[in-house]
Amino acid sequence: MRSGLLVLAAADIVRSLPQTVSEKPDNLDRRLMNGLGKTPALGWNSWNQGGCEAATAVVALNTASAFINLGLRDVGYTYINIDDCWSTTSRNSSGYLVPDPNKFPQGIKALTDQIHSMGLKFGLYGDAGTMTCAGHPGSQGYEVQDAKLLASWGVDYWKHDNCYTPCNAGLQQTCTNPAGSSQTWYIKMRDALLSSGRPIFYSLCNWGRDNVWTWGADVGNSWRMSIDNWGNWADVVRIASEAAPIASYSAAYGFNDLDMMIIGNGRLTTAEERTHFGIWAISKSPIIMGTDLTKLTTERLNLIKNRALLAINQDSLGKAATTFRPSGAASPVSGQLYPYWAGPLSDGVVVGLVAPDGAQTLSVNFADVPGLGAGTFAWTELYSGHTGSGISVSANLNAHDMAVFKVVRIASG
Ligand SMILES: *[C@@H]1O[C@H](CO)[C@@H](O)[C@H](O)[C@H]1NC(C)=O
Repeated sequence: MRSGLLVLAAADIVRSLPQTVSEKPDNLDRRLMNGLGKTPALGWNSWNQGGCEAATAVVALNTASAFINLGLRDVGYTYINIDDCWSTTSRNSSGYLVPDPNKFPQGIKALTDQIHSMGLKFGLYGDAGTMTCAGHPGSQGYEVQDAKLLASWGVDYWKHDNCYTPCNAGLQQTCTNPAGSSQTWYIKMRDALLSSGRPIFYSLCNWGRDNVWTWGADVGNSWRMSIDNWGNWADVVRIASEAAPIASYSAAYGFNDLDMMIIGNGRLTTAEERTHFGIWAISKSPIIMGTDLTKLTTERLNLIKNRALLAINQDSLGKAATTFRPSGAASPVSGQLYPYWAGPLSDGVVVGLVAPDGAQTLSVNFADVPGLGAGTFAWTELYSGHTGSGISVSANLNAHDMAVFKVVRIASG
């Protein structure tokens, strides 16, 4: 197909440029250019909702209806992604993946057609090794055939997992001594998708191995930078603390993926859910919901539909917030949640304040914030809508809560 050839040609030109290692990898010259993922993906994934059981056409269509009925599509949520267990446990005699007929009685093409007609996009899951994490057929050795099949079905998004990949310790679900760099096998699927005839969003899921953030932008549209978010507060803290030092690798068309947004699984407090959503949003992570959206309370729906936070996540500048150290504050400690976050926007600066332990009042002078400095600024707190102006701002926070301010200069200093 003509559009596919054009995409491939553009990507080849991009990749043939010198692969210089730069201190601030925020330019576009080494990023996968399949035309997708200019801003972080917004959507839903079946895995954290119900594992293998949720990988069905019924669940996908119920979620698509919820996107529309609950106003999620209107605020930007687009991708309906089915994770592991959608296929049968073996390929057919021609080597093709086969949708489980009990879960997808009409096949995948009919489902993608229906989801497209609802103004949404459809994603599927696969694996770089011999088997997926749940033991379904992997794409190793079948990359080109699988990519063409996905394109023929109209699939829009592909998550590529890292189970049962080449391993010196013998074949293992999660290899402890990999035989080679995962970059090798992620590139194979990139090239297969680029030549499939359809632009397909490429989501790398190697759990942060091989410093994927240093090469992920050339290979995929997003890359998981840590092991899974299991939906506990400890996971939010771990992932946030690991994301901050690698924030500069995120830019248009390629973003650190902090893993699923797990709102409403009963394990986080309201304050913790605000912090989970807030840090993922300002870090420019894809926001891929991992719970049953039809069961969310109004309060939780309002959290994930917060237009101001989503606008920060989708800002055209595409630069991720990271931690900064105000004068007098302690240094960040690896593995712990740091209270002070900031990042540039196309039209201002976002400042996040987090109470990592107990209830706390946190203040920051705008002069200490990267990108602000001397002057007078107007601020809006994006959860409460409160506004104000001056040379500083403060927040009274409950334990594990977060305030997010959009700050705009109104007078020079
Ligand atoms: C295998 O699957 C492919 C793709 O769906 C299909 O075109 C082909 O007919 C199937 N082959 C057999 C032998 O069932």
